[in-house]
Order: sequence, then structure tokens, then C-alpha cells
Amino acid sequence: MDTNNFAEKFFEKYGNRNNKPVLFFSPGRVNLIGEHTDYNGGFVFPCALNYGTYLLIRRIEENLLRFSTINFNEDSEAELKGLFLNTHKRWINYPLGVINEFLKREIKISGLEFLYYGDVPNGAGLSSSASIEMVTAVALNDFFNAGFDTLELVKMSQKAENEFVGMNCGIMDQFAVGFGKKNNAIFLNCHTLSYENVPLILNDNSLIITNTNKRRGLTDSKYNERRRECDKAVELLQPYKPIINLSELNTGEIHLLEKYIKDPVVLRRAKHVISENGRVVEALKVLKENNIIRFGELMNQSHDSLKEDYEVTGIELDTLVYEGRKIPGVIGTRMTGAGFGGCTVSIVRKSYSAKFMTELSTIYQNKTGLVPEFYQPEIVDGAGRMGMIVS
Ligand code: GLA
Repeated sequence: MDTNNFAEKFFEKYGNRNNKPVLFFSPGRVNLIGEHTDYNGGFVFPCALNYGTYLLIRRIEENLLRFSTINFNEDSEAELKGLFLNTHKRWINYPLGVINEFLKREIKISGLEFLYYGDVPNGAGLSSSASIEMVTAVALNDFFNAGFDTLELVKMSQKAENEFVGMNCGIMDQFAVGFGKKNNAIFLNCHTLSYENVPLILNDNSLIITNTNKRRGLTDSKYNERRRECDKAVELLQPYKPIINLSELNTGEIHLLEKYIKDPVVLRRAKHVISENGRVVEALKVLKENNIIRFGELMNQSHDSLKEDYEVTGIELDTLVYEGRKIPGVIGTRMTGAGFGGCTVSIVRKSYSAKFMTELSTIYQNKTGLVPEFYQPEIVDGAGRMGMIVS
């Protein structure tokens, strides 16, 4: 990221070089294991990526909000006179939803100019939206001395996404981009929101993210369908135990599910959630023991469960995963994020990384006609001010 160039773009767009903007950054995230567990009160294990969203922001005299981004040709202006409504435009709803959360909490917002730049690939399941929300939240918190702690900003961002944008996501993404810690993964209990940072020491292995580059069309409706199926499972299990979410059952209780859940689809969904929680707990243990081989096996099992029981993969993700596993040096590989497209995350021996990427790229292109992209991310700290006023 060339910050001088970014600042130059800001002045080209908004003029007045005497009024300096401030730079903020929020990462994207990759989830190592623990998928579709967050909204079931379960465990997740994500980390924050050096791919993220940069924001230059400054105060202005007029009572206006001006939004622009380097990524799309879609600027917007909004007058500050009460709460905002969804604009039906793509990305502007993310900052507007966050601003609403500040307004609802009676934080007085004055006129602002925003310029965003994101290098999280769009729609790739690496939380570009949570990243835009959190960078906006930390910037407003800072500019208006609102004094919210990170957890509150995370919750406000999730609310913006749930209620304003209309995507009924869990808390993992906003939490990961808010609480990220350099070179650490975050083990999070999504029910209690207690968490633990765990150093992600991969020795002679590297973390590789592969983008299917499949456009995620039906993700939101399928996501909501999965949520409803999990709610159904909870309802059916209540005669057995008065649970409020599926994660209150442990892996030792999986065999009981068949007795209470006769619908085979709902049964498989519940099985995934409970077994996945078990895998995350084991993944935490083996990572601390530096047993990367076992960590990789758990990643593989996670994908199999997401394919067979939760049914959120698809030909593109499955091709990357099952063809990837045949390549020497692959320790573990699975889909990450909501699924149906987006990315896989893999742990690969460093000495085989190049071979993994070239071989998998060819096979994937032959099978799907799509060109994959590979990222070798750094794990970074969560959203914050970059500590400089651009001159
Ligand atoms: C999306 C959602 C998250 C989580 C994952 C699946 O990324 O935003 O809250 O549910 O899918 O694990």
C-alpha cells in the first residue's frame, strides 16, 4: 500500500490540501477451522490478514458525509440529519450502517469525507465487508472520542451488517478483524465471547489461501436456510435437553441425535455443528503442542463435514480441496468462510508451496474453466489507526 499515492488520490477527489486526513486500517480474516459454528454459539479459530481495508478520513465544515472508494466507481453523499436507510447501493451501506450505530448511541457525528481502498478480494469469503465496517467503526470512535471498547465496536459492526445491510452473519468476522493479533490465531467461544490468542507457528509450513474466483450468487439465501435448519434442530432436541443453541451438545451426544431428529437434512446439519466444535477444541490443543500434522487432518475432516453434512461446498471448492490433497506436501486443506465459492485455506510444506500452486492451478482450470488465485498472507493485528497524519 503506497500511502502517499493514496493521499494524493484523496486530494484529487476532495481538494483542500491543508486539511489532512488520517489513515486507518482494518484487516480481512481467514478462518482456520470452525465453520458455521459461530451463529450456533460454538467455537471458531480465525486470524486477521494483511489484506484489508484502508480508510483516509477527515472532518469538513458542511454537515455532509462524502464517500468514495478506489475500488469502484460509485461515490455517494449523504446529509447528516438523523438515521440512514439502506441505499440499495453496494458498499456504501456498510459505512452507513456503522454510522447509524453511532447515531443510535447518541454520538454526535459531524461532516466527514471518506476515501476507502480495499485489497481483500471482493466476495471471496475473506470478510471484506467486516473489514469495511470495522475500519469505519474504529475511525469514528477515534474521531469523535466515543470511547467504545473493541468488543462494542465489533458488536456495532455486526449489527450494521445484520440489520442495515441485511446479512444475518454471526460474530466471527467482525471479531477476528477487531481482535486480530500479529502472528496469532484467535480461539473464540462465540457464546461467551471469551477468547484466547494462540501463536500460529507453522515451522516449515506455509499458509496458502486459494480463491475459487467463483461468483457467490446464492450464498446469502443458502446461509439463512442453514441457520433455519439449525434452529429447527434445536427445537427438535429440546425434549432431550433444554438447549438454546446446538453447541451445548458435545461430541459424545452425537449418537443421540438420530433419536430426536427424524429429518435427515436437519440431522446432518446438527451433526456438522457438533462435530466441528469438537475439531476446533482439538485444533487448539494440537496447535499449542505444535502438532501441525494433526491440525491439518482436522482441517481435512472439517471440509469433509462441510461437504457431506452441511452441504456448503460445491464443485469449485471441492476440486481445490480434493485435488489439492493429492499434491505432495499438503498437510491440510479446507474451505473457509460461508462456502459455495470463496476461498480454501491450506497448510503446505514450504518446499512444496510453489509446486502446489502451479499444479493446482492447472488442474483447477482444466476442471472448472476458472482461474484460481493464491495468497500467502501475513497474520496481523486488528483494526486501528495507522498512527500517522498523511502529509
Ligand atoms: C460468514 C459469516 C460468519 C460465519 C461464516 C461461516 O463468513 O459472516 O459469521 O458464519 O460465514 O463460518
